[in-house]
Amino acid sequence: MTTIPAFVPPQRTLMGPGPSDVAPSVLKAMSAPLLGHLDPVFVKMMDEIKAMLRQVFITKNEMTFPVSGTGSAGMEFCCANLIEPGDEVIIGVNGVFGTRMCDVAERCGAKVIKVEAPWGQIIEPKQVAEALRHHRPKFVAIVHAETSTGALTPVEEISKMAHDRGSLMLLDTVTSLGGCPVRLDDWGIDAVYSGTQKCLSCPPGLSPVSLSPRALEVATKRKTKVQSWYLDVNLLASYWGEQRVYHHTAPISMNYALHEALRLVLEEGLENRWLRHERNHLGLKAGLKELGLGIASQEGHQLWQLNAVTVPEGADEAGVRKQLLTDFSIEIGAGLGPMKGKIWRIGLMGATSTPENVKKVLGALKTCLNK
Ligand SMILES: Cc1ncc(COP(=O)(O)O)c(C=O)c1O
Repeated sequence: MTTIPAFVPPQRTLMGPGPSDVAPSVLKAMSAPLLGHLDPVFVKMMDEIKAMLRQVFITKNEMTFPVSGTGSAGMEFCCANLIEPGDEVIIGVNGVFGTRMCDVAERCGAKVIKVEAPWGQIIEPKQVAEALRHHRPKFVAIVHAETSTGALTPVEEISKMAHDRGSLMLLDTVTSLGGCPVRLDDWGIDAVYSGTQKCLSCPPGLSPVSLSPRALEVATKRKTKVQSWYLDVNLLASYWGEQRVYHHTAPISMNYALHEALRLVLEEGLENRWLRHERNHLGLKAGLKELGLGIASQEGHQLWQLNAVTVPEGADEAGVRKQLLTDFSIEIGAGLGPMKGKIWRIGLMGATSTPENVKKVLGALKTCLNK
């Protein structure tokens, strides 16, 4: 029998749409000895994760914890718990993830009203206002940072309009959390999900979520059962809440990693972290300009953590990405959907967002483009 050698991954610089680079202390935390998932020491650590997540989301929401699963599980968690069959929901669609949310909401039985903007553009408040004139939805949902296009949609005005109509406000912060301001309570966000592998700089595997008391009441006073047993907040609350009733076996090592990643975020300070992401984005943008390259997403609403770089005429889009990976061990992302072949997606998320990485990717891009 042939034996397969142990897997040894190469050392990359992760400058794509996620996962981002992870601090050595986060990787070290994952190799710590396992505890039982109801061990009092682990349970205390779960409480610290919840407390740190509240600080990072800037919320007092009691129902704040990481769902076991990636960002898409958080999306399903919010939709499954809030939607009952036949409910109307309004979803902003300006890229892959708004499109995905429509699919998820439909599978939960919702009638989805799409508010669409061209990929790369933001969802304008007036578009939502127009949809709200004709509908009174269960929730209005927006993807804050569209990772597929690099656009950051402002949410405060849209959230206020949703509330004025008696609707909840749902926000996807998978790419925004930890990389730019996200202020749940100030913005009146009722349901939110994120991911660990972007600006929190933790491996993928958990989805931090938070529900406002209003959203929690909607989820607990439903007429129908939540169609997903795994993601039912009524069951998860007993596990992550005071009672600690077994629901599922929490991914122990992932929770260690998230604990350490959140600790690092708070040690740096949210404002400092946001400023670092802004500074490095501006540095990259200036360097791209010198190379004759620009950013494709809407001016004034460009993400700091995900840069959608326009592929110049005549350049070999896939060839450049391949060369960056093989010659420089740098991963960047390709465009998706209508932006396929037209943009490169350069991530400056979490630990990846450094001036050294900006310099490195600009130098490598220059070499590849000269070829
Ligand atoms: C904005 C946004 N929402 C949702 C997701 C889905 O997250 P995951 O791939 O972790 O399931 C992603 C992933 O890239 C994302 O960028």
